[in-house]
Amino acid sequence: MFIDTHCHLEDENFSSDRAEVLERAKFAGVERIINFGSTFQSSIAVTELAENFSALYAGVGIHPEEIDDFDDKTCARLAELAADKKVVAIGEIGLDYHWEKDSQRRLIQQKIFIAQLDLARQLNLPVCVHDRDAHADTLKILQTEARDLRGVLHCYSGSVETAREVFKLGWFIGVDGPLTFKNSAKLPEVVKAAPRDRLLIETDAPYLAPTPYRGKRNEPAYVVEVAKKLAELRGETLEEVAEYTAANAKELYKIS
Ligand code: NI
Repeated sequence: MFIDTHCHLEDENFSSDRAEVLERAKFAGVERIINFGSTFQSSIAVTELAENFSALYAGVGIHPEEIDDFDDKTCARLAELAADKKVVAIGEIGLDYHWEKDSQRRLIQQKIFIAQLDLARQLNLPVCVHDRDAHADTLKILQTEARDLRGVLHCYSGSVETAREVFKLGWFIGVDGPLTFKNSAKLPEVVKAAPRDRLLIETDAPYLAPTPYRGKRNEPAYVVEVAKKLAELRGETLEEVAEYTAANAKELYKIS
């Protein structure tokens, strides 16, 4: 069994064929899929999808590129959504300095990230973190504000050294399509250095489709391509990768 631990099936890219996408996932052996909200609206949408499809689970949160969607009532409203049994995480939350160059707005991202870490603590939920070009500040916040939390650095793009610090905190890294790209500079070294109990596989669909689908719409069935590459790089069988990544996902997100 494979588990796609991060995607966005509420996205309008799937509005005409969502049921077929889920069928193809099932056929490929992808039996659980966790969708993450980026805004309050998409957090509602992923929660509703999880209620309607047994294979789906949800995470709710405000993405760092969507901070204008966050106000002083947002955490209380996310908590209401999180009361649903199929909401298994707070996310995706974090820092994105790739798209945000303004230092004041980066500080707002940090404040909102920390507020949602506090929410995860109150709700006793794990966290799914987005970190793009913000590795140092993300790690600092995890080390100072999230020591008692568990979670994953999703779509990991940092160094081997940063990954080691993440593992020390007992956190996971999520690996996506870029692992299969010819120019995936550091990521092969990171996954070779990672203990097997710290790795999750994900698609981030509809984004970041792995080779040989690169450039097309991504979907959960393609998480198998990420697992194959992981097996090749780590000298493991595909069955082993499926088994331990699914076990890790079940352990982190408390799903069966
Ligand atoms: Ni995402």
